Parts: sequence; structure tokens; C-alpha cells
Amino acid sequence: MQYGKFTKSGDAYVITRFDTPRPWLNVIYNDLYGVYLSQNAFGFSFYKDPDSVKVTYAHVPGYVPTDPQTGKFVYLRDADTGTCWPNVPMHSARGYSGYRCTHAQGHTTIRARRHGIETEFLLFVPAGTDPVEVWQVTLRSKSGRPRRITAFPYQQWLLTAPSGITDTLTYTRAAYEPALQAIVARMTNPTSPLMYDAFMTADFEPEGHDCKYDAFIGTYGRLDEPAAVRAGACTGSSASGERMVGALARTFDLPPGESVTFRVLTGVVEPEDGVSRCTLAVPELKAKYLSPDGAAAALDAVNAFWQTRRDTLTCKTPDPTVNLMANSWAKWQNTLTARHARGAYRGFRDILQDSMGLAPLEPDYTRHWLIESFKHQYANGLCIRGWNPVKGSLDTRLHRDSPIWAPLTLSAYLRETGEFALLDESVPYLDTGSATVFEHALAGMRRLHDERAPNGLCLIGDGDWNDSLDEVAPLGKGQSVWLTIAALYAMNTLAEIARHANRAAEADTLRTWADELKDAVNEHGWDGRWYLYAITDDGDPVGSHRSAEGQIHLNVQTWAVFAGVAEGDRLASVLDVIDNTLDTEYGPVLIHPAYTTYTRGIGKVSGKNPGHAENGPIYSHGVAFKMLADVALGRGDKAFESYLKTCPASQDPDRFLGEPFAATRYLIGPSDPARFGAGPYSGNTAWPAWTFQLLFERMLGVMPWYDGLRIAPCIPAAWAKYEVVRPFRGATYRVTVRNPDHVERGVKTIRVDGKKIDGNLLPIFGDGKEHRVTVTLG
Ligand code: GLC
Repeated sequence: MQYGKFTKSGDAYVITRFDTPRPWLNVIYNDLYGVYLSQNAFGFSFYKDPDSVKVTYAHVPGYVPTDPQTGKFVYLRDADTGTCWPNVPMHSARGYSGYRCTHAQGHTTIRARRHGIETEFLLFVPAGTDPVEVWQVTLRSKSGRPRRITAFPYQQWLLTAPSGITDTLTYTRAAYEPALQAIVARMTNPTSPLMYDAFMTADFEPEGHDCKYDAFIGTYGRLDEPAAVRAGACTGSSASGERMVGALARTFDLPPGESVTFRVLTGVVEPEDGVSRCTLAVPELKAKYLSPDGAAAALDAVNAFWQTRRDTLTCKTPDPTVNLMANSWAKWQNTLTARHARGAYRGFRDILQDSMGLAPLEPDYTRHWLIESFKHQYANGLCIRGWNPVKGSLDTRLHRDSPIWAPLTLSAYLRETGEFALLDESVPYLDTGSATVFEHALAGMRRLHDERAPNGLCLIGDGDWNDSLDEVAPLGKGQSVWLTIAALYAMNTLAEIARHANRAAEADTLRTWADELKDAVNEHGWDGRWYLYAITDDGDPVGSHRSAEGQIHLNVQTWAVFAGVAEGDRLASVLDVIDNTLDTEYGPVLIHPAYTTYTRGIGKVSGKNPGHAENGPIYSHGVAFKMLADVALGRGDKAFESYLKTCPASQDPDRFLGEPFAATRYLIGPSDPARFGAGPYSGNTAWPAWTFQLLFERMLGVMPWYDGLRIAPCIPAAWAKYEVVRPFRGATYRVTVRNPDHVERGVKTIRVDGKKIDGNLLPIFGDGKEHRVTVTLG
């Protein structure tokens, strides 16, 4: 079924049926605050941490929002007839016409008409750091007679604390404050790392308000027909220690054909030293966002923010889906994953990969999180699994893969900016002392090299990339073949950095370490037709033809390819397994066959539903690694095919279920035939970061290098021509690539500003100008 389509410019998705296969959520956010909002206005607001600080009500069984139970509504009541209805279709489209929801970057607009009144509801969150959202509501009379309409803007407070939801009610209350013309809801749990007030106000003086759910909706009332709306007036209630809402009321006279627009401002104010700042802050925020000019300027700023992002680093290829994702939605989602999509939790590996993807768009952000990550490394080189800056908590599990992501992100940052001075910046260790950025990265590699099993493979410790293989080494002896490959890949990456930073001795050492690891993998990690994934404390193989289930793990095969570990017959064999055993119509599965029985020594992955999470789905992140393997071998067609198979914009929505603009963590694998190809868990995935980087750098082949811009495309043979416009170190490179012989890779000639150059490294111009680059493949 068709539920809508992308706008021509790719800046928004327009939904034309309210009953999408599951709620299609836009995430409308700035650095501190955001709203998850569905196509029928269900959703919730968060502050700093969407996982633990839910300002308005969200019933979420997991930490990834998929099914909000309430939202941001404007109830309407005809004051003459008593008819009432919500502005959006909630459960049925009956009675509504002209429905249309536009999920854009930075805002959502929902339009629908009922009982002769068309409503347009726009919600946006200002760019920057003000923790507020603005609702702009327009009511248009389409009925040809004068109307008196009472509007009731509504939401339900939750006000959870970062320490968890337990006991929230004891610390929360809400009341209308006439001096502020605002509802103020307070969360005053002093044992939580964060206390805050929330407020809701409008650009009109409300004629009524409610804070008590039982009064406004009714104890057994219905969301689509609240008791107070039916009665025609709010009750003026306050609330304490109970279900709380924010509801305001105002009646408007609407002559035929006329419209009225009003605005609601709601958000968060943090107290200072425990003292509420609402008296000062609410009027300030009102002045800034509730005047028509203020609201328009704030919306313009949001649009400008996203437009700049869309205009920075662009491509024009023969494939509209690639253009749409690369120029628009991968940037949008990568910006989101690096900020909020995993809550405020910063998984060491996650934040490094997400901010790696942002290097071309927001290098300062990448830099910031590189440094923050190194602050979570011990002086012995080990790094913790993650931390939550809002909760102030550390996740001290020692997943041994954490250090390997740092050289990759460092490389992306240095290649983008050339700021090698960063390598000498001093950053404290988590436990004791400090070291330079380079020493931090090196310490991680040294630890991985020094702390190995007698067979030369890296110890897995508390785990590696696959968090759910969590019982491989309770005694600390088990090893990971994948990690050993990842470590050598990171060592080689850091060696390259060292070489460009005139640290030849360290570069040599790193390469020697990497070679040692490669030998160990080929000696002890080969299973006959593919690479093992791991070896348990007891010496049992994980991911072997001898395993009862979970015989082949994708990541270790793909990394063996692009890290240059698999060679000759082994390379051919691994490719055969990827292409002919693991690949499916929606991309390669992560584990084959999926585990069906919980198995000690493997871990929780084996207890997960077959085909779900890490247990044999098409894991989007794993697909990105598979594409890396393809491009390493010049398989442009294969890489592109895998890209389209997992790309959200190319899915059949009735099967995929998720938003066409947001990649999902995984697509359910074939071992759950009934749900094969469905994509639960939008948002939380490193797919946008990796595919964005991979697409521009290694497929379209315009790759920032330490000392220039490197041209090395790997594309579908069918493509005849494409263009990339890339800002790089103070100049713009307009690169046109022609492919007259229809090859997948191979550069024949490069001309820069009309002159042929030798090799494939474009110079750093840094002159603020645009330079034309013409590349011919063949
Ligand atoms: C989740 C985690 C990621 C991990 C993956 C596999 O996506 O965020 O860090 O690598 O699961 O376990």
C-alpha cells in the first residue's frame, strides 16, 4: 500500500494515510530537547535523555520508542452544537478529510478537516539549546457559516527522573500559575541527578486549564473524547502525585472562510541550586518564541540548519534513492544517532562510530566525542563499555573492542580537517594520569597486542561488537577472531595516521603488531570454509561448521575481507559463503543459522528470537561492513545491491513497517518467516554513519585523505556519470565522474580545472574557491 511519498527536494516525507503500518515517528530535536511525534500526533517530549527523562507520557516497553500511547493533541468543540473531536484521526479516519502529515527535518505538520473545520498543527523544536517546542495551530472555517470553536491543546506529563521511573509520582505535581499564564509541572526528586520544571503556555490567555488527568480525560475517560471537552470547559484542576496533564482552553469566533492561528509553547526549565527559575525563564522564552515574528524566525533557523546540512557534501547519481539518502536522510539520521537515538547513553563504540560519520558535516562534534571517549579509557589501554553523562553513571564492562573504534574515528577527523595538532592534546585517563590523544589511541592498540591468548588471538574479555555473545569468556580465557581482525585493522589505520604525523617508529611497531595478529587469525581462526567467530574459555569454537547452530557469523568474514586477512583461496571461499549462504532478498544475515536454543557458553544471543536482534537478522550495521568488503574488492554492483536492500526508502512499507526515512537497527531474518524483512527499532543504528561515509568516500570515491582528496570510485557498472560536490579544507571540489566503459572501478584520467594530473590525489587548495574535477573511469 502507498502511505505517502518524499517531497521532490527530499527534505520531507508526506504521509497521506493516518494508519501507517506502525506509528511513523519523526524525531524533532535540538541538542538538549526533542519530541518523538507520529503521523497522528502520538508521541512524547524528552530532555537531555530520551531514555530516562521523559517529560511527557510515553509507555515504552523498550528504550526504542515505537508505539506511543498518547501525544500532543488539540481537541476541538463546537460551542454551539457541543460536537467535539480531536484535530487528528486517532483510531479511525471516519469523519476526517484532507488528512496529510509532513514529517520534515526539524518539524512536523499535520493537517486534517472535520466538522467543517480544517486544522493545521505544526510542531517544531528551535535549533540550538533552548529546551522547548512550539505548536502552531491554525483553525480554518470551511463550513460557510459562523462558528464558535473551543480549542483545548493537550498533553500528558510524565516527568521521569534520570534515576528511573520508580517513585516518580511522589515527586511530581502540576498547577496553573496565573502570573505566568502557564501550567508548571515540577519534578523535585533530590536523589536524582536532575530536577526540572516543565511548563506549558500559549499566546492567548486561557479561559480554562487542567492538570489532573482524571478531571480532564476522566478516570475511565477516552483519549479521543475527554470528559472536559465533552463538558465544554476545563475544571481548573491542579495535580499532585497522580496522572497529570497539561490542558488549556480558549474559544475562538470563526467567520465563514476565516482562520485563526494560535501558538503553544511547552518545555523545560532547570532550577538553579534547587530554586525554580520559571518566573524568569518562562516570560523570556515566551517573548522569544510566541510572537508571530519570533516563531517565524525560529522556524526559519530550524530550516536553515537542516538546509545547510543537506547542502554540505552532495551527490547527483543516476539513482534517486541514493541521492535522497546521501544528501538528506542519512545526514538527518546520523545527526540523530550521534545525539539522542541511544538515549544519553554513550556506548564507547557507538558514539565513536556515530560521530565518525559526522566528520564532514560537523568535525567539532567528532573532535569533542573523540576526547570524551578517551576520558573513558584506563591508563592500561582498556576502555569501558559506555557511560551516561545525564545519569552520571559508568558502564564499566570491559568490552575489548572499545579501543579499536578510536583510530577509525581519529582517522576520519584528521583526514577531514588535517588538524594533526590534536594528536598532541593531553586528555586524562579514567583512573590515573593523562596522555596525548595519540598515546591514548596507541595504548589501546598496545593492550590488544600484549593481552592475547597463547594462540595469539585477542582475548574477548566482557565482550566485543556483538554484545549478546556475552558468555564466551567468563573465566577470561576466551578469544574473539573478529576482534583480532578488528584490532589489526585499527592498528594499520593508526599506523597510517602515525606515518602522516612523522611518527615512523610507532607506525612500524603498529604494522608489526598487525602482522602478528593476522598470522594468528589465519593459523587459529580458520574453520575450513570461513573464519570462526570466537573460541570459548573451554576451547570450543563459536561460529564453526562443528557448532550445532550459529555456524557462520557475517562480521568476521566481511572484516577478514576488507582488513586484508583473507587472501587467495580463503578469500574466494569467504565470498562464496557471503554471497551464496548468508545473502537474502533483504541483505546478508548476521548469523546463520540462527540459534533456536539458549546455549551456555554462547550467551544471550542464543535466547533471542531467531531472526531478531543479533540472532540472525539482516543487521543494518553488519550490512554496512559487508559493503565495505565489497568496495575493498571493487564489487560496486554488489555493494550497491546490499545498500538498496537495507535502505529504508526502498522498502515495501507493509512488510518493513518502519519509517521510509529512517534505517532500522535490523530487518528480521528468514528464521522468522512470518516477519521476515520487517524492521523494528528505527533510529538506533550505525548504518547511517557508515553508509554515509562509505558511499561518499569509497563508492562515489571522493575520499578525504591526510594530504589531499583521493579519487577512487567503486560504483555499479551501469552508471554512466555522476557528480559529487565536496567541501574540503577551505575549498569546494565539484567532481564529475564519467564511466564510458561501464566499469565498477579504475581511474583512467583526472583533470583538475582543465589540467590533467598524475595519480589520484587532488591537491589541497584552501583558497575558498570552487575547483572543477573531471574523472574518467575505464
Ligand atoms: C547494538 C549496540 C551496538 C552493538 C550491537 C550488536 O546495536 O548499540 O553497540 O555493537 O548492538 O550487539
